[in-house]
Amino acid sequence: MLKNPSSKYQPFPLITLPNRQWPSRHLSKAPIWCSVDLRDGNQALAVPMNVSQKLEMFDALVKCGFKEIEVGFPSASNTEFNFNRRLIEEKRIPEDVTIQCLVQAREDLIEKTVESLLGAKKVVIHMYNSTSPAQRKYVFGKTKEEIIAIAVKGAQMIKDRLHRLESTGTQVTLQYSPESFSATEVEFAKEISEAVMDVWQPTPEKKMILNLPDTVEVAMPNVYADQIEWICTNIKNRESLIISLHTHNDRGTGTAATELGLLAGADRVEGTLFGNGERTGNLDIVQVAMNLYMHGIAPELDFSNMGSLIHMYERTTGMTVPPRQPYAGELVFTAFSGSHQDAIKKGLSGYEEHKSIWDVPYLTIDPEDIGREYREVIRVNSQSGKGGVAYLLESEFGIELPKDMQREFGPIANDLVDKLGREVTAAELRDMFWKEYIERNTPFSLHHFHADGVDGVFTCRSSMVKNGSEIGITGTGNGPIAAFVQGLIKDGGAQPFEVVTYREQSLEAGSEASAISYILIKLATGKTVWGAGVDTNIELASIKAVVSAVNRAI
Ligand code: KIV
Ligand code: ZN
Repeated sequence: MLKNPSSKYQPFPLITLPNRQWPSRHLSKAPIWCSVDLRDGNQALAVPMNVSQKLEMFDALVKCGFKEIEVGFPSASNTEFNFNRRLIEEKRIPEDVTIQCLVQAREDLIEKTVESLLGAKKVVIHMYNSTSPAQRKYVFGKTKEEIIAIAVKGAQMIKDRLHRLESTGTQVTLQYSPESFSATEVEFAKEISEAVMDVWQPTPEKKMILNLPDTVEVAMPNVYADQIEWICTNIKNRESLIISLHTHNDRGTGTAATELGLLAGADRVEGTLFGNGERTGNLDIVQVAMNLYMHGIAPELDFSNMGSLIHMYERTTGMTVPPRQPYAGELVFTAFSGSHQDAIKKGLSGYEEHKSIWDVPYLTIDPEDIGREYREVIRVNSQSGKGGVAYLLESEFGIELPKDMQREFGPIANDLVDKLGREVTAAELRDMFWKEYIERNTPFSLHHFHADGVDGVFTCRSSMVKNGSEIGITGTGNGPIAAFVQGLIKDGGAQPFEVVTYREQSLEAGSEASAISYILIKLATGKTVWGAGVDTNIELASIKAVVSAVNRAI
C-alpha cells in the first residue's frame, strides 16, 4: 500500500444540496422490491444457473413475495432466452408478478428481448447504458452528446416494438438505468434520463422506472443519498417516475446506501438474496427488508423460513451464506460470551412474561420469526475470567462453585486452556475440574468410611490407601468431618489442618453422583486449599472433599 494514497486516489466530490431533506426523514413503509438474483446475481456466478436452477429460484422468489423479478438478459444467451419462454409458455408466472429483462441499447438485442417476452402478462423492459466519465472516456470513447444519442436511439427502438407486446395484452413498463450513475455527474445523469423520458413520455398514470445504480460503490452512503435527493428534486416530471435504487457493496455500505436512498425519496429497491452479485455483491435485499421488520414495518417480503431459503440459494448458486451475514448467517443468533448469554436469558424470560415489544438484549429480532433458534455456545478460552468458568460449570452441569473456590479454579482452568492453545467446551472444562479436585486420589484415597455419634460426639472408622498401602483410621470429633480430620492427622500422618468452610449441594437428578461437597482447609502454615468430592451419599461426598483438599495441599 502507498504511504501517501492521495498520490493515486482522490476523495469523491460532494453534491451541492443546500436544503437536503433526507437526514430528518424516517422510513415508514416498504419500497417496491425487485429481485435481480436471476440476472445480476446470476451473471456473477462462476457457473451460471441452468434453466432448472433458475426455475427453482424463481419459484422461491415468488414464495418470498417478490412482485417484480428481473429474470435475465434474454438476448445474452440461449439459456436466458429459453428460461423466459418456459416461464411464459408453462404459465409459471403468477398474475401479480412482473418479469423484468435487461437489455443494452442495441437493435438486435432489443429485438431478441421483445421476442423472449411475447405472451407474458406483465413485463418490465430494462434498458441501460453507461454514463460515468471513466466509461465515456475509456470504454466508449464518446462525448456526452454521443452517449445520450445511444440512450435515445435505444429508447426509440424499444418504443417502436411496444405494439408487438401490447397488442397481445402484455402490460409493459419501461425502465432506464444510467449505469454507473453514482460515478456520473448528477447534471449529466439528469440530462440523459430526461432525454430517455422525452422518448418514452411517461405519465403519472403510466410511469416509467428510473433506476439509479450505484454500479460500483464509490462514496459514502450519504453521498448516494444526496445524489438521489438531487435527482428527485431536480428531474422533470418526478410524478411520472418510479425512482429505483440499485446498489452494490464495494465499500461495504450497500445496505446503508439503499436505506439513505429511500429516505432521499426513492420508491423502489433492486437487490439480491444474501447480496450475491458482481465483486462484493449487490445489495442484500434480506437485510433491508429485515431492518424494516425490526422497526415494526411490514417488509412485504416473507422470510419466515430462512433456513430453507438459504438451502435453495446455496443449491442453485453454489454460493454460501457467510456465518455472520446479518439475519441469515449461522451464527447470528448464537451467543458465545457468558455475559451476553446471561443477558439474553434474562431478556428472554422478561419477554416471556410481558409478550409485547421485543426488547431482548443482543437479539435484534426474535429468531423464531424467521424459523431460527437462539443458541448458546458454551466454552471458555484462556482470557475468560473466573466468572466465565464458573458460569459454564453452573449453567451446563449445575456445579455452583463457592466464590472463593472460583478464584482458585479460574486461574487453574485458564492455565490449562492456555496450554491447549484453543477454546474448550463445557464438557472439557468439567473434566478439568474433575481431574483437579474430584479425582485427586494420591497420596490418600478413601476406601471405606463409617461414623456414629452419641450425645454429639462422633467416632469414625475409615480404611484408606496411602501411597499404595492400606491404612486404618479412627478419630473423634463433634461431627463426622471433624472426627475424620482428627483421624487423618493422627493415624494417617496428614499435616495438621482445620476445615474453614464447608458447602454442599445436590447435583441434577438422574446423575450418578447426586451430591457434591466443597471444603476449604487451612494448614498450620496459613495456606488455604479447596477440595471437592462427589457421591450419592452427602456425608461421603464431604469426606471425599476433605481427602481431595489434603491431597491437593501436598
Ligand atoms: O450495477 C448496475 O449498474 C447494473 C445495471 C445494469 C442496472 O446492474
Ligand atoms: Zn448491478
